[in-house]
Amino acid sequence: MIRRLLFLFDPEKVHHFIMTFLRVCHRLPGFGGLLKMLYCLEDPRLERNVLGLTFKNPVGLAAGFDKDAEATDVFSDFGFGFIEIGTLTPEPQPGNPKPRLFRLKKDEALINRMGFNNKGVVKAADRLKKRKSDILVGGNIGKNKVTSNENAAGDYLKAFEVLFDHVDYFVLNVSSPNTPNLRALQEKEPLKDLLRRIQAKNHSMNHPKPVLLKIAPDLTDRQLDDIIEIVETLKLDGVVATNTTIGRENLKTGKEEVERMGAGGLSGKPLRGRSTEVIRYLKQHAKRDFPIIGVGGIGDPADALEKLEAGATLIQIYTGFIYQGPGFIKKINRAILQSRS
Ligand code: FNR
Repeated sequence: MIRRLLFLFDPEKVHHFIMTFLRVCHRLPGFGGLLKMLYCLEDPRLERNVLGLTFKNPVGLAAGFDKDAEATDVFSDFGFGFIEIGTLTPEPQPGNPKPRLFRLKKDEALINRMGFNNKGVVKAADRLKKRKSDILVGGNIGKNKVTSNENAAGDYLKAFEVLFDHVDYFVLNVSSPNTPNLRALQEKEPLKDLLRRIQAKNHSMNHPKPVLLKIAPDLTDRQLDDIIEIVETLKLDGVVATNTTIGRENLKTGKEEVERMGAGGLSGKPLRGRSTEVIRYLKQHAKRDFPIIGVGGIGDPADALEKLEAGATLIQIYTGFIYQGPGFIKKINRAILQSRS
């Protein structure tokens, strides 16, 4: 009923309303405890030791939902095993003109062209300093729109340095379709150059952090082979597969309606199959067995199991969380436990 009501309003406005509502309520005594009681499922069999970290369970909140790290404590109480904040850029930026987020209800999908709207990496770091929960947090970083690809590494390095002491792992986002030309950074040479510089910085630190790469589902097999080679030669810690797609295949929503929504990345159920294919490809073709965080189109617990079976060690949800509501995390974790017994 609540979902039906919320779905009557503009999706981005609903998102901001919910985030504010949750943050305010979370300050009330007992609210966090109530969320925990309703939504958390704790079981040692759900724990995963990956990337040198211990995840309470393998279900995470995907990047883009809590871009500015405003509600990590709240999402911890919803039972997530980890939260990926960002994409954060060195300077704050407003993102693309609105409207820029659209629901495709018949497809349980979304199209977005947010364009890395965020309040900047410094503010997020300040907020993380104040967090109370011990939930693992990943820092997803990118470049500002005004920064050219030639200077992109400088942006990633700046965001990396500011966040370094406040996150548990990093994700370099080179796969958003909504920042002009960003995805060209997925090509072999620019990617190698970027990763080399990040890894040099990382290894100059006392305790380097795990660094992962987030890739698009629209890469060809040849490009995936390049990704595997780069991950292996530059000793990256893993891959997040996948971001949203620029494809518009197999949609139940009418073509005209979809065209009216315009450009952007498609997420949710229609992305499921391709995202799983990418995970499976990486798993089967990699020589070194690096961890994969599987994300894209998880809309019911069986989809989550599919990602794990394809080779993901951890999974993330975004669109499914919106369509299924907060009980979804517990449902997935329960299915994971049942699949083991
Ligand atoms: C995203 N996603 C995303 N990814 C990322 O790396 N940085 C970002 O800033 C965002 N922002 C963002 C905004 C919105 C509105 C959506 C719907 C998605 C992509 C997200 O993390 C995930 O990879 C995809 O949405 C696929 O997963 P789902 O939504 O199908 O579970």
